[in-house]
Amino acid sequence: MHFDTIIKNGTVVTASDTFRSDVGIHNGKIVALAASLDGADEIIDASGLYVMPGGIDSHVHLAQPSGDGIVMADDFASGTLSAAFGGNTTVLTFCMQEKGTTLRESLKTYHAKAEGECYIDVSFHLVVTDPTSYVLGQELPALVEDGYTSIKVFMTYENLRLRDDQILDTLDSARQSGALVMVHCENEDAIRYLIGKHEQNGELAPKFHALSRPVAAEREATHRALSLAEIVGTPIVIVHVSNRQAMEEIERARKRGSKVAGETCPQYLLLTADDLDAAELEGAKFVCSPPPRDKESQEACWEGLQSGTFELFSSDHCPFRYDDDSGKLNEKGKRHFRWIPNGIPGVETRLPILFSEGVSKGRIDINRFVALSSTNHAKQYGLYPQKGTIAIGSDADIALWDPLKQVTITNDILHHGADYTPYHGLDVVGWPVLTMLRGRSIIREGALQGALGHGQYLRRNRV
Ligand code: URP
Ligand code: ZN
Ligand code: ZN
Ligand code: ZN
Repeated sequence: MHFDTIIKNGTVVTASDTFRSDVGIHNGKIVALAASLDGADEIIDASGLYVMPGGIDSHVHLAQPSGDGIVMADDFASGTLSAAFGGNTTVLTFCMQEKGTTLRESLKTYHAKAEGECYIDVSFHLVVTDPTSYVLGQELPALVEDGYTSIKVFMTYENLRLRDDQILDTLDSARQSGALVMVHCENEDAIRYLIGKHEQNGELAPKFHALSRPVAAEREATHRALSLAEIVGTPIVIVHVSNRQAMEEIERARKRGSKVAGETCPQYLLLTADDLDAAELEGAKFVCSPPPRDKESQEACWEGLQSGTFELFSSDHCPFRYDDDSGKLNEKGKRHFRWIPNGIPGVETRLPILFSEGVSKGRIDINRFVALSSTNHAKQYGLYPQKGTIAIGSDADIALWDPLKQVTITNDILHHGADYTPYHGLDVVGWPVLTMLRGRSIIREGALQGALGHGQYLRRNRV
């Protein structure tokens, strides 16, 4: 047999197994796994390295417009480049329905942004903000047929949130068409009440962002989302869970028989609300929703990653520049936390953080790492087994990991469009040294080898 590429002498890791094997690649697919393979145009020596499925980050925000002149720091080019440097081969980003428009119109806008602009493969979740009878009754079923098999709904943000009756209608449409619904769970009315209180007291610094979005607001909305999904009888994903109480709501819903997946993110393992309390408005760098909590919540999130309550570990990459009037420090944001755009960058640091804090520190094993960073995302969102594993017939989307490489995270080693990283100064052990997309090396030893436009749009299956 003739191969385009053989990865030799590495240790292959999947969500279930770890074994010494060479990997033979032809026409972008994995075609052979055996102790020793020969006969290829290119041999890549992976001695001392892990051969893992490329990371799949199923929660990434790129090129989303917001009002008020705020500009997201990454478009599809810079965002997918940064993801590739971080060992990822697929990102699932969001297509935002603009109110008063259809999902198809929004898709046209986002496909135009992504077309020819991606270094790795992408696929879109549809964010439903205007669930009209046309959107839910006619569009969504047709779009699911076309491979748009997941949607996100918001319970918070004045201009994005759905009321409970709208969430029920959306869940019902999703159940009938087979779409999976991701839910952002925070109680908007409670948050508005608390923002009002802080305003009355003149408490407008970034730290009051966290204080106006307490655990109770997340727990209540999580419970409500799970109850609504139970009433309709449809599976959901609770995204970006930040604390134990919300996590326990998921566990209770599962015990009642609900099909629910949980997701957590690096910020809930490493940051706390105290980070928002830094001098000179530096706390704005950490403003995201739900906000990071405290040490006990970090511990809870680790337990959820270990126990399986969380099957997904995503970045929720949502980058804005810090020192910029179109980003975190816009004129209004400097005066009042409610105008600081929500979201922090992290698509490039997600895998090194989970590897170092998780695998290197002994909290999870290497197979759990692969499940949480790649395989479960592919299974959950209809890309498996084309993506998310090292197996014959799967796309040759591969990350070679040096488990001993030591790196100190600083913004100048990263490739996103943000001008800071919330993880500045963090020492990590383990780093991706090669990222391969469909058989082609995209990143090798820290250098770009891939080309803009090599990334493709992925139609996804129902699950
Ligand atoms: O603060 C965050 N997480 N911004 C991104 C949008 C979202 O809610 O996921
Ligand atoms: Zn050849
Ligand atoms: Zn969200
Ligand atoms: Zn998000």
